[in-house]
Amino acid sequence: MPATIVLGAQWGDEGKGKVVDALASASDVVVRFQGGANAGHTVQHAGVTSILHLLPSGVLQPHTRNVIASGCVVDPFALLEEIRTLVESGTELAPGRLLVSGRCHLVTPIHRAVDQATGGAVGTTGRGIGPCHGDRILRRGLRIRDALDGFLEERLAAQIASWGAGSLGLDEPALLAAQMAPVLETLAPYVADTEAALAEALARDERVLYEGAQGALLDIDHGTYPFVTSSSTTIGGAFTGGGVWVTFERRIGVVKAYTTRVGNGPFPTEIEGPTAEFLRERGREYGATTGRPRRCGWLDLPLLAQAVRTNGYTEIALTKIDCLTGLDPVRVATGRDPDGAPVYREMEGWGSDIGEVRDWDDLPRACREYVGFIETALGVPIALLSTGPGRDQLLGSLEP
Ligand code: IMP
Repeated sequence: MPATIVLGAQWGDEGKGKVVDALASASDVVVRFQGGANAGHTVQHAGVTSILHLLPSGVLQPHTRNVIASGCVVDPFALLEEIRTLVESGTELAPGRLLVSGRCHLVTPIHRAVDQATGGAVGTTGRGIGPCHGDRILRRGLRIRDALDGFLEERLAAQIASWGAGSLGLDEPALLAAQMAPVLETLAPYVADTEAALAEALARDERVLYEGAQGALLDIDHGTYPFVTSSSTTIGGAFTGGGVWVTFERRIGVVKAYTTRVGNGPFPTEIEGPTAEFLRERGREYGATTGRPRRCGWLDLPLLAQAVRTNGYTEIALTKIDCLTGLDPVRVATGRDPDGAPVYREMEGWGSDIGEVRDWDDLPRACREYVGFIETALGVPIALLSTGPGRDQLLGSLEP
């Protein structure tokens, strides 16, 4: 059975959590295949807001099984905390509902400390993601299975030595191992052969949904290097991280109706002043993981065209269009001038609230024109339009 994939098309925070949650209602299995607790997926359910970091957004749909596949990096403390918070708020999360690959690399307190000490130039989330992937690539990482098989303390000692973590106050592998071991034991029942589980689910014709984290422009290879995260956030990451051949019949790119970025690095359409403030407040543009104010700017079609080329989106979910209500004109970058500065097209804004609109034809004309312009420029249909944070504030079909 072909699967569906949802990917961020910008610098993350496009509203993937809501789209995945909505699609998960028609899925049996939801898979995270890259990233770690650096992600922050905000989902609203019956007035309750949940922020998920490592757990697939499908966990909020009781009928789904959820997979943290081998390409993810797992901070065991963060994962256990996330599981506890959800269980306390009434979500059933028995081991059969959540499968964590034993091949996932563990983010240790050493990785977090190193990231917090060195990640400033890039503006990382400080969650230890880069150092963990660094160890992985240098073939000295600590995978969940290895930790459960008795190599925990030995590998922590090696990490302390190789990162010089003694200078960061972390020089006792036995102490760190003693802190991590009980957490890992609690997580052990969730550890599974996720590749086999996924292959079986696909062979049984179950409906499988892959959930990307971050966005195309944060991809380690195809993003705005070095101001990127350390994983493959584009479609290739679904194969390396998921570990299973699968045909993605639906490849949904999630695009926010404007652009935001947290952390440092180039942002050609960035704006400052009252319009940026307007978008930040309207869109609640503060990091879901770190609380940092997000940088805001206009939609950037040349960068989106690049994301389309890399990922081959079959459809786009355009989110947070309601946050543009009240801005006039609305600008869209359509190209670059000879100096590389964005060239803008000015479009008419709209003033009326669209949060209650449930039919495309009921959208204000200028809003429809904005959506239509993006669709034509990118050559990809906008199949879903999110008009507010609520689950029901979604226009378009979720059915395959
Ligand atoms: P890291 O992933 O923590 O190493 O951070 C590297 C860059 O990716 C920084 O600019 C972060 O702000 C950014 N980043 C990481 N995760 C997310 C996310 O989920 N949303 C938006 N930006 C992110």
